[in-house]
Amino acid sequence: MERRNSSSGRKKPPKRAKSTNIATTALGEEPEKRGRKKSAPVKGEASSRDFNVHVKTAKRREYGSTLWLKRQLNDPYVRKAKAEGYRSRAAYKLIELDEKFALLKPGARVVDLGCAPGGWLQVAVKKTGRSGRVVGIDYLNVPAVAGVDILEMDFLDDAAPAALKEKLGGEADIVLSDMAAPTTGHKATDHLRIVALADAALDFAEDVLAPGGAFVCKVFAGGAEGELLARLKANFTAVKHAKPKASRQDSSEKYVVATGFKGRRDD
Ligand SMILES: C[S@@+](CC[C@H](N)C(=O)[O-])C[C@H]1O[C@@H](n2cnc3c(N)ncnc32)[C@H](O)[C@@H]1O
Repeated sequence: MERRNSSSGRKKPPKRAKSTNIATTALGEEPEKRGRKKSAPVKGEASSRDFNVHVKTAKRREYGSTLWLKRQLNDPYVRKAKAEGYRSRAAYKLIELDEKFALLKPGARVVDLGCAPGGWLQVAVKKTGRSGRVVGIDYLNVPAVAGVDILEMDFLDDAAPAALKEKLGGEADIVLSDMAAPTTGHKATDHLRIVALADAALDFAEDVLAPGGAFVCKVFAGGAEGELLARLKANFTAVKHAKPKASRQDSSEKYVVATGFKGRRDD
């Protein structure tokens, strides 16, 4: 029997299907539109003109979230990561840095600070192979990655450096830090937190790196500055800044890459 609107006697219009049905995936930062056809792997360099998914504003979704969603759905690196099995689009940042600076060699011992959801771990383990050693840390839970030791703890915890060294079982060839603290919106506070994370990462790198080792660290705005830059220049033979293509152009994020660790004073 047809359902009718009791007041007017007119036929009720059929319920409209929601325009999007979004779920957060294990990629963490990567939502997907359920039911959408699986995309074909993106070959070669990703292009932002490959797709343009339109996202309608849903009643319960805030405008900012809709913009974020639209950016994710139209991001070629998000699609590429999905197609190639990487847990994060960030994986391509490390791939690009490695192509440019030849960091991840077979057999290398790597520490990844701030490793969730695990894209860099996947790249590191693939590049260093069976003879390599990869250890990661994050205060977020990271699903296991074959061949990797993962610590679920705050890197700023006093016990973290020793725990990492124990897992590593010796010196490291590369210390990577993609750590980023959640922003507070208060510029000065956010800046101090970024600097504190980079400082702590460098303290650890100087303590654990083998001579000749490399340090890669996410920095923002003007890059590594002041004391951090001076320390890098004093302790490494080359210090460069790089902004991989996979790093969003509207983000002030970049990476400082220091190679040729000169060794500890006590070495
Ligand atoms: C941009 S994400 C890293 C993405 C990762 N490179 C990948 O490819 O999947 C930054 C990570 O740093 C972590 N982080 C920030 N501060 C940290 C801290 N003090 N200790 C451990 N992890 C931290 C965050 O939890 C977050 O998962």
